Amino acid sequence: MDPPSIRPLAPADVAPCARFVAAAPLWRRYGYGEDRCARDLASALEGADDALFCAELSGEPVGLAWVLRRGAFGRAPYLKLLAVAEPARGRGVGVLLLREAEGLTGELFLLVSDFNADARRFYAREGYAEAGALPDFAVPGITEILMWRRR
Ligand SMILES: CC(C)(COP(=O)(O)OP(=O)(O)OC[C@H]1O[C@@H](n2cnc3c(N)ncnc32)[C@H](O)[C@@H]1OP(=O)(O)O)[C@@H](O)C(=O)NCCC(=O)NCCS
Repeated sequence: MDPPSIRPLAPADVAPCARFVAAAPLWRRYGYGEDRCARDLASALEGADDALFCAELSGEPVGLAWVLRRGAFGRAPYLKLLAVAEPARGRGVGVLLLREAEGLTGELFLLVSDFNADARRFYAREGYAEAGALPDFAVPGITEILMWRRR
């Protein structure tokens, strides 16, 4: 099978990406559904403020990284969303997307759910340090862990 490739997100990627985001149990816990995700992605693509990357495997979109260029404190990039379709996980797609997102400045902030042990381990291995905790920030009962990779 071909190695994954990363390219800018295109309008045709919005529907398949929204489908695999909404299918993940993580975003179900946040009530983030397919329609809302598709609307958010389409509107981000219309503006010029955000950087959106798509990972492709065998011609199919299988991963998405969405970066707000100055989303962290108005001065550093913030990774708003990183998702890989369930069947494509564990093959290096997430790492490639993260590298692309970091490539904007080298520095990147993100939030990860406290219960998402796999993602916390993934980010730690990629050089992210836990910089703080925000209880009930997005949803009551879930603590968001702030992670930061220095330039
Ligand atoms: C977290 C997430 C983005 C990581 O993406 P991924 O494509 O699975 O990540 P990678 O394949 O690059 O790395 C993950 C694992 O595969 C391994 N891996 C990396 N490259 C690999 C390769 N070429 N072949 C096989 N395995 C590989 C890594 O060692 C890692 O193992 P471990 O974490 O089980 O110890 C993805 O699992 C996901 O979408 N999860 C659900 C949503 C989520 O949690 N998003 C983050 C919210 S903040």
